[in-house]
Amino acid sequence: MENSKKTMEKVVNLCKSRGFVFPGSEIYGGFANTWDYGPIGVELENNVKKAWWKRFVQESPNTYGVDASILMNPRVWEASGHVASFGDPKMDCKSCKQRFRADNLIEDHSKGSVCPDTMTNEEMEAYIAEHNVKCPRCGNFNWTPIRTFKLMFETSRGTIEGEKDVVYLRPETCQGEYVNFLNVQRTARAKLPFAIAQIGKSFRNEITPGNFLFRTIEFEQMELQMFCKDETAVDIYNGYKEKAWQFAKDVGLNEERLRFHDHDKLAHYAKCACDIQYNFPIGWQELNGVHHRGTWDCSRHQEFSGKSMIYTDPVTNEKILPTVIEYSIGVGRLTLALLCEAYDEEVLENGETRVVMHFHPAIAPYKVAILPLQKNLGNKAKEVFALLSKEFMCDYDEAGSIGKRYRRQDEIGTPFCVTIDFDTLENGTVTIRDRDSMEQIRIEIDKLVEYISSKIKF
Ligand code: GAP
Repeated sequence: MENSKKTMEKVVNLCKSRGFVFPGSEIYGGFANTWDYGPIGVELENNVKKAWWKRFVQESPNTYGVDASILMNPRVWEASGHVASFGDPKMDCKSCKQRFRADNLIEDHSKGSVCPDTMTNEEMEAYIAEHNVKCPRCGNFNWTPIRTFKLMFETSRGTIEGEKDVVYLRPETCQGEYVNFLNVQRTARAKLPFAIAQIGKSFRNEITPGNFLFRTIEFEQMELQMFCKDETAVDIYNGYKEKAWQFAKDVGLNEERLRFHDHDKLAHYAKCACDIQYNFPIGWQELNGVHHRGTWDCSRHQEFSGKSMIYTDPVTNEKILPTVIEYSIGVGRLTLALLCEAYDEEVLENGETRVVMHFHPAIAPYKVAILPLQKNLGNKAKEVFALLSKEFMCDYDEAGSIGKRYRRQDEIGTPFCVTIDFDTLENGTVTIRDRDSMEQIRIEIDKLVEYISSKIKF
């Protein structure tokens, strides 16, 4: 299918109708920029997280996982710089009262060819005026000046009435990795360079034009911090650029829709930073980041906590404040890219069109669907379901014609359909249909687990 015919609207509609993703709090009219994963979506999302963890923790020497608290000591966010400066440049449309990020307006207007990262608020206002960038909602040009909005959600903690301390919902997971640097180093007896990884929820008070899962106020991040000596940091940074690219490709994204985007504007402590961008139906947008963070994080936490973040080299006895290379990617952001990549409308020989999701089998929500050709084959089919569901996430469907049932599985990307027919009762064989080629082979029930396992490896 041509990329130009893949619209976000088609992907969103399929997600809602097939149970991938529903609007958050839908029966109350929704809640902007929140989405709930349904029965199919939660499997997809879990498989994305499993693939990332396998690649970056399980198969990566010197990488250790953590699961840190969402609510952290508020001093963490002073040390990280978020309390002082984590905000977005926002403009309101005075006609329809909708609020937008000025940098997003510029990116969308220029279709990604202009990078607002390097612009001041005044430069962004000038660009918007000069190019007559109109409100995407109502089409008017009637903007307020840019104002900076805080991105951290605040809540409070206190046991005595009236005495409440502000605490923050974490806007990124990596601070939980920095504050545990020496705990992990000591207990894992880790030597530099080593990495700490985690997958967890983050929260940002984002105002977005509503690009589905792309930017939400609550989202999960898969983040990894590699602690190293400064002289090795640039090589490690380049290594993670490659690893991040390879992962994006292996998990199912087409290289033609991926590109590196080196940052023009660097934080004062950073030597280099880049994104990998994906060509979403809304244009080229950031998929993940790889950042050289210098010694900023360790030095700030050392300063604010008063506790040493120094690593002592066991051989040379050298005292080192580690440099950090970070790789960070959003679960929802990657899931959205995979949904867009997988979506396909295929015209069949009989002229009908089938919608099919070509997920990598390891990512597909269900690995196999068990379909009795007729309802009176249900007992045998349930036996096969019991066998396969011990190994894989399976679906079971006996409603409607076999053709309709295949189409339903194609739409949710199930790589294999196993059909139970009358020969199954005679000789213990079933047909197994491949989602992409639609070819069928006959196979013994005893060989199904081995056959499917060999095809869904990541
Ligand atoms: N610790 C570094 C950090 O958080 P970031 O570029 O702000 O860096 C990293 O975020 C990744 O997290 C992004 O590349 C994106 O994949 C994901 N992400 C960030 N904000 C998001 C949001 N509001 N909704 C969904 N995903 C988001």
